[in-house]
Amino acid sequence: MVDSFSQHYHQRTKYDPETIATKSQGLDWSQQPSSYKEYKIGTTYDLKPYLQSTKQDVDSHWWQRLSLFLLCSYGLTARIQTMGEPMYLRAAPSAGGLYPAEIYLVSRGNNLLPAGLYNYQVKDHTLIHFWANDVWQNIQVACFMHPALMVADLSLITTAVFYRSAWRYQDRAYRRIFLDTGHLLGNIELSGSMNGFRPYFIGGFIDRSINELLYLNPEQEGAVTVIPIVDLDARPDLIIPSFPSGLPSKINLEYPDLPDGRLLNYCHQMTEITEFRQLPANPTDVNLIQLDDKYNFPFCLKISTVTSPIDWQDNLPLSGLEDTILKRRSTRAYTGAGLTLNELNALLDFTYHPEHYAAQHLDPNPDYFDLDLIETFVVVSGVQGLEEGCYYYAPRAQELRQIRFKNFREQLHYLCLGQDLGRDAGAVVFHTADLQMAVQKYGDRAYRYLHLDAGHLGQRLNLAAIRLELGVSGIAGFFDDRVNEVLGIPEDEAVIYITTLGRPA
Ligand SMILES: Cc1cc2nc3c(=O)[nH]c(=O)nc-3n(C[C@H](O)[C@H](O)[C@H](O)COP(=O)(O)O)c2cc1C
Repeated sequence: MVDSFSQHYHQRTKYDPETIATKSQGLDWSQQPSSYKEYKIGTTYDLKPYLQSTKQDVDSHWWQRLSLFLLCSYGLTARIQTMGEPMYLRAAPSAGGLYPAEIYLVSRGNNLLPAGLYNYQVKDHTLIHFWANDVWQNIQVACFMHPALMVADLSLITTAVFYRSAWRYQDRAYRRIFLDTGHLLGNIELSGSMNGFRPYFIGGFIDRSINELLYLNPEQEGAVTVIPIVDLDARPDLIIPSFPSGLPSKINLEYPDLPDGRLLNYCHQMTEITEFRQLPANPTDVNLIQLDDKYNFPFCLKISTVTSPIDWQDNLPLSGLEDTILKRRSTRAYTGAGLTLNELNALLDFTYHPEHYAAQHLDPNPDYFDLDLIETFVVVSGVQGLEEGCYYYAPRAQELRQIRFKNFREQLHYLCLGQDLGRDAGAVVFHTADLQMAVQKYGDRAYRYLHLDAGHLGQRLNLAAIRLELGVSGIAGFFDDRVNEVLGIPEDEAVIYITTLGRPA
């Protein structure tokens, strides 16, 4: 069977021990891009004063919620002194700290935010109003009249500035850009709940229309998600008809033989949507998967992961979550000591069972693009009460099913390109997907959705780990095919993302 372009891209950007040395280029520091977008003209709305404000009037309260929502999604949360300019880290993690995502805010126009386009200026926590015309209707058309856009007054749009990440990771940056944005979506979902907003994730839109509306140069920057924000404080009982978060694009089976260095931009083009396409009506195999977990091995060891939910309340509802988001950092080293089984169960519970958190005012059914396409494997190197080895995590049954029994520490070190994080973690989570099946359902656009969802799950794992005082770090660089071979993950499952979990050193 011929690969579609996104499958070809995936194949071409695999890391392999034989070729990695020839593929990696040294970094050209003179070309290092800035992680911040600047606008010369526009009206600035300072969000900082609202973080401290104790005013109780309706308008101040709205600004406080918006300010905290953006801060906890993508705001600066740490400053690192370097020899030159200080480096700032953000509420969402990013591969290499390169932050390719930009956040725009579109207002339909209310008494507080006039209609038009705003850019969230992360560095000084302000909004800059750079375009004053009402573009709401254009967004609705570009998003095929998604019902959340009928009722929302505000929408975020996230974009990616490709070169920020490609500067370091070349063509493979496309994967990291979408994983990064997935982490950001995790923050947007949870910070939304903390502040009375319900974000709807739209991945199926006409790219060209959204790019033009934001005045982007499509060679450099492209829209990734449109996120209408419904104000639950103003409309608590509103019911919005369901609508798919992801829509299909074409399946591209014919494409030129591109040289390295041109794959990233081409992949973005090949995953664009140009017209409305229905999702396949009733794909029988997909239906089967929805009822049951994908893999079952009749005689394997099965461990229940059922546990009580993580408590996110401190003094106030969800204040423990806010605190966790603001202090989250990627762990740089683990001690090698183990986790408890209860800790691992709690991490899985928060990540895959949002419905257990409704009583804590979190969204029991947050938007993903299509979690039926993502599978989870957990390699256990140090979890008290659990045999070492590779397990399939069955989210519906809430159990771990053992595939291979072995201590994989040294192999994990190698598979994660020699990173100690892989070797010293107590558990390493692998998110995978059958690309062929995903492309059948969503065309080449599937490639975007899979990475966004894997990043979103990764962010929930991150926050749960920090709340439990564990260490956590994403890893997007690994020897793709070797992971399957060594750990026994089925060949059809392309590894999309790795999250390491352990005791911080
Ligand atoms: C998609 C993704 C891939 C990452 N890959 C690695 C990795 O391979 N090795 C590593 O040490 N950290 C990795 N990280 C962590 C980043 O280095 C970290 O997020 C960044 O330096 C910002 O720091 P912070 O997470 O503490 O805010 C990754 C993070 C993301 C989101």
